[in-house]
Amino acid sequence: MTTFRIAPSILSADFARLGEEVRNVVASGADIIHFDVMDNHYVPNLTIGPLVCQAIRPHVQVPIDVHLMVKPVDRLIPDFAKAGANIITFHPEASEHIDRSLQLIRDNGCKAGLVFNPGTPLHFLDHVMDKIDMILIMSVNPGFGGQSFIPEALKKIALARRMIDESGRDILLEVDGGIKIDNIAAAAAAGADTFVAGSAIFGQPDYKAVIDAMRVELAK
Ligand code: DX5
Ligand code: ZN
Repeated sequence: MTTFRIAPSILSADFARLGEEVRNVVASGADIIHFDVMDNHYVPNLTIGPLVCQAIRPHVQVPIDVHLMVKPVDRLIPDFAKAGANIITFHPEASEHIDRSLQLIRDNGCKAGLVFNPGTPLHFLDHVMDKIDMILIMSVNPGFGGQSFIPEALKKIALARRMIDESGRDILLEVDGGIKIDNIAAAAAAGADTFVAGSAIFGQPDYKAVIDAMRVELAK
């Protein structure tokens, strides 16, 4: 049976109370903390860096999944590893040397993954599958929380699932963008096992109610 993981994106959390927010969301059943890093260069928004990762690290025991939306990629990897990241993913078109960036993440003791925008083909996985621990399929164009799920992403999730199964490797298949209670089951049916949700969780007063409702959908 598939183990499903819920990964709240703290992009939609209250940054003035971030420690309390991550503690609450983990107590409410989150399996992973999804940490969105935007640089106002690769994406048109600016968010948080290693200092904030280091600040929340003592507040939670679950893995921190750092989604790098930055260019260049490599310079930030050792800093995030030192700040307590467990998984680091990046967008392949933002790296000059994809294999090197993946190896750098692994050399720094973290799990490594590639992120695919709605218009980015999966062929960047060719020849590097042996260094991949996570594939992240974007179901919105990156840069902002609160956008609508792009249904075409379901086909790409299914394609990535086939590639993972063929590889025989233990690779998480994460989906990110516009995930809500009413579409999480469709993403799971397509083959996703890890679900990022920002506004759906932090936009509601009762995080546990949302996460529980998502798990009910996943169990159907
Ligand atoms: C978008 C980010 C997402 C985003 C998800 O660039 O990578 O992680 O915060 O937020 P929602 O769930 O609101 O689409
Ligand atoms: Zn993200």
